[in-house]
Amino acid sequence: MSNRLKRRQEIELQIEKVAFGGKGIAYVDEYVVFVDECLPGDRLIARITKSKKNYAEGYVRELLTPSPLRREAPCAHFSHCGGCKWQHVDYAQQLQFKRQHVEESLRHIGGVSPGALHEPLPAPEIFGYRNKMEFSFSANRWLTPEELKDLEIKKDFALGLHVPRFFDRIIDINHCWIQTEQMNAVLAFSKHYFKQAGIAPYHLRNHDGVLRHLVLRQSFAEQQVMVNVVTSTGLEAVLLDYAEQLTRECPFVSSVYNTINRGVAQVATGEEQILIYGAEVLVEKLGKFRFEISPDSFFQTNSRQAEQLYEVVKQYAEVEGRLVWDLYCGTGSIGIFVAETARKIIGFEIVENAVRDAYRNAGLNGITNCEFVAGDLRFNLMKYAETPPDVIICDPPRAGMHKDVVNTLLEVAPPQIIYVSCNPATMARDLAELTRSYEVVEVQPVDMFPHTYHVESVAKLKKQAG
Ligand SMILES: C[S@@+](CC[C@H](N)C(=O)[O-])C[C@H]1O[C@@H](n2cnc3c(N)ncnc32)[C@H](O)[C@@H]1O
Repeated sequence: MSNRLKRRQEIELQIEKVAFGGKGIAYVDEYVVFVDECLPGDRLIARITKSKKNYAEGYVRELLTPSPLRREAPCAHFSHCGGCKWQHVDYAQQLQFKRQHVEESLRHIGGVSPGALHEPLPAPEIFGYRNKMEFSFSANRWLTPEELKDLEIKKDFALGLHVPRFFDRIIDINHCWIQTEQMNAVLAFSKHYFKQAGIAPYHLRNHDGVLRHLVLRQSFAEQQVMVNVVTSTGLEAVLLDYAEQLTRECPFVSSVYNTINRGVAQVATGEEQILIYGAEVLVEKLGKFRFEISPDSFFQTNSRQAEQLYEVVKQYAEVEGRLVWDLYCGTGSIGIFVAETARKIIGFEIVENAVRDAYRNAGLNGITNCEFVAGDLRFNLMKYAETPPDVIICDPPRAGMHKDVVNTLLEVAPPQIIYVSCNPATMARDLAELTRSYEVVEVQPVDMFPHTYHVESVAKLKKQAG
């Protein structure tokens, strides 16, 4: 193509649209250019970093005319942190971008046009909404241009979040706007404590050092925080002292765990989990239901908005007197939320601890019509198909459903399927298959993640007649 751009070329562009992933899209005739961190309406000089036959990628070298959609991002770390991409976009506009992603994914990837695609349900709070944050310790702190001027700042200790595109670079975070003030207080105390104590962060290249992650979980109902320090080796004596001092400073901390991950993969899970202080579980409420959450259990990360999400599922599922399968059920929260009027709920989940939590949570809420099945549901569903369900609710991970599972759904053929998804692209792919027998009646996007480009959706499918 004659308009193909060259790597390192600089070019003036007008941004026309936003793509999933938050990049801006500009056109040079029909040639597409994706530019990081910009908005429709921006006029800019971009520097090209990647050039392909049909498209190129680049970043903003100079912003000539800012888009009228821009606003001041409140977070001091915004320009460098990979956490929130859209803090500089008006919230109403974020919701429009999200609706557009859902609509375009359904149309372009799935060829699906739902009976109705509703306006996204806004989040009740757009800051301080997250109930879980995973910070990383680093022995290789990434310094912003302003920090580079301060010669007092040392590079050998950071506790914060990843710099986009650099797996081993962490930007030191003082205050994170999307977590609660209680979590910010624990973050500040922990950074100070471990720095003073002289405990080395784990080094991702040399594989030495101890501190790996600080995982915080917040209960909005109980106003408590669960703290999990992930280390490469046991650190019990230090953590006993840490817990004592932390709970004096932050009395709302209800437990301190130590997870030991001796492997090289930088993940916040591990082979050993020791309760250093306090309660085994964190208790959160969704609507009138109580849930006990273990350090590793999946739980929707926006507690207040999860209530609205589950209300949509409940309204779409029409479970009265019916047998319901709750696929990818995690700790059983959707099933428990809709169980009261259903005949029976059968939840399927691969993580055994989550299934244990699900039974405990059902008991805690006096719910007796739920059964939970541990294991890969790809192999388990057909064992239960002798009594086919009236409704299937599925809430798969980002990758969507395995095609064998989609085929099982088509074979079991319940009158109604409710598909909950945090990824419009894989939802579109799976719905495309299901529309062989189902009609997509309506889709409700729900904003669980303000200031990011992520969006949750609930799709209601009805079996076609004949
Ligand atoms: C997006 S979460 C949904 C959890 C739950 N519905 C909720 O609202 O909290 C997806 C869940 O699917 C589970 N999962 C992933 N692959 C699975 C599989 N092959 N079989 C059963 N469960 C699976 C994960 O462990 C996780 O708990």
